[in-house]
Amino acid sequence: MKNKTSIQGSWASRWIFILAATGSAVGLGNIWKFPYITGENGGGAFVLVYLACILMVGIPIMMAEVFIGRRARKNPINALADVAEESGSTKKWGIIGLMGMLSGVLIFSFYSVVGGWVLHYIKVMLTGEMIGVTSDAAGSAFGALLADPATLLGWHTLFSIMSIAVVAAGINKGIETATRIMMPALFVLLIILLGYAMTTGGFAQGWNFMFEFDFSKLTWNAALVALGHSFFTLSLGMGTIMAYGSYMTKDASIGKTVLAIGGLDTLVALVAGLAIFPIIFSNGMDPAAGPGLMFISLPVAFGQMAFGQLFGVLFFILIAVAAWTSAISLLEPTVAFLIERLKIKRMTAAIGLGITVWALGIACLGSFSFMSDVTFFGKNTFDFFDYITANIMLPLGGIFIALFAGWVVKDKFAQDELQLPSAVFKLWNISMKFTAPIAVAIVLYFLINPMK
Ligand code: PFF
Repeated sequence: MKNKTSIQGSWASRWIFILAATGSAVGLGNIWKFPYITGENGGGAFVLVYLACILMVGIPIMMAEVFIGRRARKNPINALADVAEESGSTKKWGIIGLMGMLSGVLIFSFYSVVGGWVLHYIKVMLTGEMIGVTSDAAGSAFGALLADPATLLGWHTLFSIMSIAVVAAGINKGIETATRIMMPALFVLLIILLGYAMTTGGFAQGWNFMFEFDFSKLTWNAALVALGHSFFTLSLGMGTIMAYGSYMTKDASIGKTVLAIGGLDTLVALVAGLAIFPIIFSNGMDPAAGPGLMFISLPVAFGQMAFGQLFGVLFFILIAVAAWTSAISLLEPTVAFLIERLKIKRMTAAIGLGITVWALGIACLGSFSFMSDVTFFGKNTFDFFDYITANIMLPLGGIFIALFAGWVVKDKFAQDELQLPSAVFKLWNISMKFTAPIAVAIVLYFLINPMK
């Protein structure tokens, strides 16, 4: 293929790509969702299945996304179409990219609402409102926040503007600058919080909870959640990594780069769990508290501890930073597509898309108040968007990307980008052709036909 660089620009170095993609991967999924779904699904056995999904399905698919993006150097729809054409197939494969963009829009709309909760909790921690409160009081405070659409709208709007502004500034000035500042800050904050968790006295219990594998607690539903989450946490199945890959330089090794991203993302999820569960256990609270784990249990815990206010503020800043770098990446594929397709300016594309996702976000935040009656398959808008994206659209997108990379793209083109030792290439190819699609298909099958 002839394109040497994308018209959007390219990353300054391989490390910037690794950090930007890690910024996309590490988000609310790692720090908010991973600990609470681990809590809900019984701990260790769930963690083990999740790790297997990352290694056997997530990493190989991420390699496919990066190489497709880098080969074509275009937005995901055009990248899939061009790579298909090069291998003698139909440009219709671009449709996978379209479904991916739709997933990005839906994810952003609820993601930004949760990002807004996080901003609100930075303020709550700063003002010390939670010092010495009981779990019940913290639960009512969180409930009152959800029931207050005006406050939620303010925070959701702020979070949306923060994300749109970075994307509007472009690859180098916007995303790259944000990455350079925020990713080191994120790692430092996480290490400080882990150190703090180790002093709480609940560390051993937290460790055991996450790493004691009790398979009797494992259900099909837990396996589905683990697989869906491995896509969500690695930002796969929707073209984000493909778009970021299209800005990657040709000389960088895709295999090593992807291993670094997958490894860092997993490390952050595990460390986040090890930072959170000890705090929960040392205050005698329930690890299976669900989505409220971070917004109810943790503030109570911080409110009872030495230096809790300081570390509470740091903790919520950490999550805000993580969520911000991910939210940016949810917008980028569609912005790139709009620029390349409609030949409009980045600023116009970012604002146009921004207004759309912001408006959809209002339906999500209204799920807890004025739109609570609106349900899809028994779920409110917020839960429905979360459910269909993480559990259905991303895994489906992933299956198609795998099948595309394994069966449609000619081996010589794939290998030209991947440059893997031939035994590793074979393994990767088997994963694309069989392991990844079959694993996803089995889990989706049991989702649709739950076992009695
Ligand atoms: N990986 C992000 C997280 O774990 O929070 C969420 C996400 C970002 C999913 C970007 C998909 C995506 F394209």
